[in-house]
Amino acid sequence: MSHHIVELKDVTYTYPDQTEALRGLSVRITHGESVAIVGANGSGKTTLLSHLIGVLFPTSGSINIGGYPVTKKTLPHVRRAVGMVFQNSDDQLFMPTVYDDVAFGPLNLGLPPEEVDARVIASLTTVGALHLKDRTPYRLSGGQKRSVAIATVLAMDPCILVMDEPTAGLDPAARRQLINLLKTFEHTKIIATHDLDLVLDLCARTVVLSAGTVIADGPTLDIFNNEELLNKAHLEKPFRMQGCPICHPPKR
Ligand SMILES: Nc1ncnc2c1ncn2[C@@H]1O[C@H](COP(=O)(O)OP(=O)(O)O)[C@@H](O)[C@H]1O
Ligand SMILES: [Mg+2]
Repeated sequence: MSHHIVELKDVTYTYPDQTEALRGLSVRITHGESVAIVGANGSGKTTLLSHLIGVLFPTSGSINIGGYPVTKKTLPHVRRAVGMVFQNSDDQLFMPTVYDDVAFGPLNLGLPPEEVDARVIASLTTVGALHLKDRTPYRLSGGQKRSVAIATVLAMDPCILVMDEPTAGLDPAARRQLINLLKTFEHTKIIATHDLDLVLDLCARTVVLSAGTVIADGPTLDIFNNEELLNKAHLEKPFRMQGCPICHPPKR
């Protein structure tokens, strides 16, 4: 695959019950970019991400990843390039042990056992979860599950990392650990989130969705300083940009 550019052109998606979740959505993301997808509940973030791994296919419009149109035929290529961390880790973990879960993808690629073992150990070490390798995934805490889910994706060595609400349900320490880990991932990152403080830390670019379409796309700081836009998208300025109420008391 060349360059791993992600390009959605005029994508619409209508669910079988006729809900129009995406309406003429276009966005182009180049290799190495870190892009936040933000917007109110129901604005289409999860539907958009589901198209990047071919869980859903557009009703109209097109999606290209690394030069391939995303179709049923190209799915094996697409899924080698794109790794998705689902919002709910239980959707991603289904084997009897953590080790088996992380080994599952590399084994399916047909890699030799030594290579599979090396990938499992390396990715569990990266997320700080090697000590959990013999545990049963469904008995882990939310933060531990999220770490293991990320390891299952890293073990596939993707060029594009896609995450849906990665910090939802994490305690502050687990959240900080995750942000620091994501800072070390140098490939393309596409992150749907309500955590605008995380966006400030990780994403130079932000795409704002409303009712299934892009209403703004640009440098994160420009977007977060545009109060009218934030209101329109039902978003709040990140805490760090709100100013300390003691240093800046409201004018009487
Ligand atoms: N499986 C589904 N069937 C029908 N409508 C759905 C389904 N999943 C999501 N939707 C609808 O599609 C729209 C976009 O939802 P979603 O992509 O989940 O938004 P977000 O992730 O931004 O909260 C919403 O109106 C939602 O109700
Ligand atoms: Mg969602």
